[in-house]
Amino acid sequence: MQKLSIHGGVPLSGEVRVAGAKNAALPILTAALLSASPLRIANVPNLNDVRTMIQLLQRMGVKARRDQRGIDLDASSVTDPVAPYELVKTMRASVLALGPLTARFGEARVSLPGGCAIGERPVDLHIKGLEAMGAEVSIDAGYIHARAKRLKGARVFMDTVTVTGTENLMMAASLAEGETVLENAAREPEVVDLARCLIAMGARIRGHGTDEIVVEGVERLNGADYTVMADRIEAGTFLAAAAATGGSVTLTHAPVESLDAIIDKLREAGAEVKTSGDTVRLAMPRRARSVSVRTAPYPGFPTDMQAQFIALNCVAEGTAFVTETIFENRFMHVQELRRLGARIEIEGNTAFVHGVDRLAGARVMATDLRASASLVIAGLVAEGETVIDRIYHLDRGYERIEERLGRLGARIARVS
Ligand code: EPZ
Repeated sequence: MQKLSIHGGVPLSGEVRVAGAKNAALPILTAALLSASPLRIANVPNLNDVRTMIQLLQRMGVKARRDQRGIDLDASSVTDPVAPYELVKTMRASVLALGPLTARFGEARVSLPGGCAIGERPVDLHIKGLEAMGAEVSIDAGYIHARAKRLKGARVFMDTVTVTGTENLMMAASLAEGETVLENAAREPEVVDLARCLIAMGARIRGHGTDEIVVEGVERLNGADYTVMADRIEAGTFLAAAAATGGSVTLTHAPVESLDAIIDKLREAGAEVKTSGDTVRLAMPRRARSVSVRTAPYPGFPTDMQAQFIALNCVAEGTAFVTETIFENRFMHVQELRRLGARIEIEGNTAFVHGVDRLAGARVMATDLRASASLVIAGLVAEGETVIDRIYHLDRGYERIEERLGRLGARIARVS
């Protein structure tokens, strides 16, 4: 089992290029199912989750070919509209096949995603939306079974903002008969990136990026060439690591327009942040000040950055309140950070982080993707060696992170 070994205490410095966004690439890969013409996608990150999604598509009969510049997907001969338990249990985002399969093939069988480390994560809103569009949906032997001769446009209100729910229904609606209105839709940049890819394929969508998305269904979609946006959570993770170590870094190919909430909080913590075009420069000339955050749907502060900011606050001056409002069990990293000497109390969905002068290296365990990123940041700050177990969690969302942090001066290595 691979682990990460980190010797902390080095302020990060230098330049790093931000990779393509995992949470945009995954839905965009499934969009290939909507058309019989090839889809060419560039800037797809080299991640375990992306490999799992390609495996899932290939299992359905999609032809996939990857080269240096991107991925070619050809869904002209899909034979088996099924997302099996074996793959869905490793990656919940497989549920994103449900909408496209039902819309194009009139049938889909997708294993019902179970809960995960960060919460129960139901998909009831995905199902309710498809039913509103006229699909017959049943849960049978652990599988969601959806059937529809042709989906019909509908007004769909989602009482909770859901990112993949919005994406699934937007894809389904793009081939439905008539107009669909998605109300209380997610406004995340990844939803907008998917909408732009669908529009490049011939879909008629407006309002993406607002809480009301309108989709005029079409008979069929074409192929397209599309480039995935850069990853705002990866960018935020590098910036938080630089701030926590008192370093100065430059990010290139960064999705600057979608980093407002993150940069705002880093400035509040005392970082000097300059942006120009797709470049972000951050310098942390002093010890960070504690900064309180409350997670919320976009454009609020992203839940996928909550753990990294808890790590930053562990060594900041003062006490921070970090409130998690999206997922009910997303403080698994707190117990592990305490092993490094962090002082954190949890009350309900708020963590009270009392900054300490120093952390000390220890063995810790990753429990989910972003929790593992917070342990990496704490390890970069801690004195001595920190060893992180179960780093397969990290590989799901960060491409070769130890190499890129190593180029910023970190003393970090993957060890078996
Ligand atoms: C997406 O998950 C992201 N994953 C998550 O990133 C991210 O944390 C999350 O959005 C919130 O920003 C991908 O895009 C692949 P939701 P998603 O549906 O779509 C409740 C990472 O670290 N809900 O927006 O699964 C749900 O329980 C991952 O990269 C329902 O009640 O999240 C949660 O409390 C982790 N019923 C809330 O909505 C539903 O049908 C938001 O979840 C759907 C969701």
